Amino acid sequence: MIGVQETSSSAAFKNPAAGSTASPLAPEWLAVPADLNALHTPVWAGGVERNAGGELAIDGIPVSNLKEQFGTPLFVMSESDFRARARAFKDAFDEAFADICGGVDVYYAGKSFLCTAVATWVAEEGLRLDTCSGGELAVAARAGIDGANLSLHGNNKSDAEINRALDMNLGRIVVDSLDELERVAKIASGRGETAKVMLRLTPGVHAHTHEFIATAHEDQKFGLSMAGDTTDEAGLSAAEEAVAAATSYDSVELLGLHCHIGSQIFEPDGFALAAQKLLTFLAAVQAKYSITLPELDLGGGYGIAYTPVDTPRPAADIAQAMAAVVRSKCSELGITAPRISIEPGRAIVGSSTFTLYEVGTLKTVRVDAPADGDGAAGENTAKNVTHPRRYVSVDGGMSDNARPVLYDADYSAILASRTSAAAPQLSRVVGKHCESGDIVVRDVYLPEDVAAGDLLAVPGTGAYCWALSSNYNYLARPGVVAVRNGAPRLIVRGETEEDLLNRDMGA
Ligand code: LLP
Repeated sequence: MIGVQETSSSAAFKNPAAGSTASPLAPEWLAVPADLNALHTPVWAGGVERNAGGELAIDGIPVSNLKEQFGTPLFVMSESDFRARARAFKDAFDEAFADICGGVDVYYAGKSFLCTAVATWVAEEGLRLDTCSGGELAVAARAGIDGANLSLHGNNKSDAEINRALDMNLGRIVVDSLDELERVAKIASGRGETAKVMLRLTPGVHAHTHEFIATAHEDQKFGLSMAGDTTDEAGLSAAEEAVAAATSYDSVELLGLHCHIGSQIFEPDGFALAAQKLLTFLAAVQAKYSITLPELDLGGGYGIAYTPVDTPRPAADIAQAMAAVVRSKCSELGITAPRISIEPGRAIVGSSTFTLYEVGTLKTVRVDAPADGDGAAGENTAKNVTHPRRYVSVDGGMSDNARPVLYDADYSAILASRTSAAAPQLSRVVGKHCESGDIVVRDVYLPEDVAAGDLLAVPGTGAYCWALSSNYNYLARPGVVAVRNGAPRLIVRGETEEDLLNRDMGA
């Protein structure tokens, strides 16, 4: 999304067999690549390319070298790419909002991927850190992040987490409910302190990828609804009640409002509508209580490319579109713009990383073409089996990438250890778990000579993959290696069998 070049293809490795006819089993969006050996760069981190021998390399380090040093599966992250995207977000939003509120505070959403090294890079690049649990606060503390640059989210914060936030002097606790507001106020008051609080509102805007919908009510666990409550005598919404309560507590400093409308969003319309709704609410609160709410957080959710059909907008475009909306709404409402903040996670870390797997078992099944041509699995009947689909098993799976299973997420994959001149074959990359839904890449064209021992790379796995990883089937979670200036460094070590048995208390 940021700082990426156009599709690169080294002529030396052009696959002459590619560009052939699509499989009827493939989904409509999946084209047969013109060159199977080429990297479609928007899904890859900067610095990833094929080396002179045709092997995938990052900053010049061949993947076989990484496998030798660190094993597979392995998350391979470009530190330079992460830093560049973090900085690009900060710069683009600072520039777009300079005349509105003097710049933007960018909170990296740690839930997408967090470890001490990453928290340190975030701070070094001038960003803040958004956490959503005591554990994430512990990482931030270990990285030495100043509490003033931290926020704490969560719809069910424990008293211990609230106390920890106060211990660390957090810049903001994003309060999610009336119940929590009362608890925060009580805990802070018991400590003789004041908690700095934002209220998370649900503006009735849901966004998902290309679309957003605006609804009157919010049927979800997060946030304070802005819709009027018909059961409340005064007809107040939960958001209005929360403002009334927050302004009444001595132990609470109400900094402002927050919303987050979804994730993997490409168009700015949803962000714009949410910003307009929150600004209107903010202006009404300021007028009613004669106070100033100095901050407004518009959340994260900026989409990235997972496959060649995803075309995310550059950060600068989104920043400018959002700035235009904030500028005009504030002038319409006659208010001074609050300081804006945002919370991107995926858009910073997602494309910085690929997962390296080793290929194991291969098999080809023949499947009926689906009647509606949508690429859904056809019936495998004996009398009408026509089209091949190759299952390529790798040494990880849903334990290191749960997103295909959880969200039907699509990924791409490439033969990484070498190039190939073989014909493209519709393939499904699957893991090694005891579960038929254990799919890593549902549909991808790979060269038909892919064989056991080859290395595959799946790009775009920086966000919500390691973070969501599990030990299902007692698989060890992979390590994360960060590469910068041609040097690989393990930033999270992979688990060992000993780690797996460590918490088992024995018979
Ligand atoms: N701020 C808040 C309050 C959030 O809840 C989230 C994500 C973010 C920021 C960061 O959103 P991002 O910029 O990364 O899209 N596991 C799902 C995504 C869950 C998102 C949860 N909240 C996935 O893998 O697609």
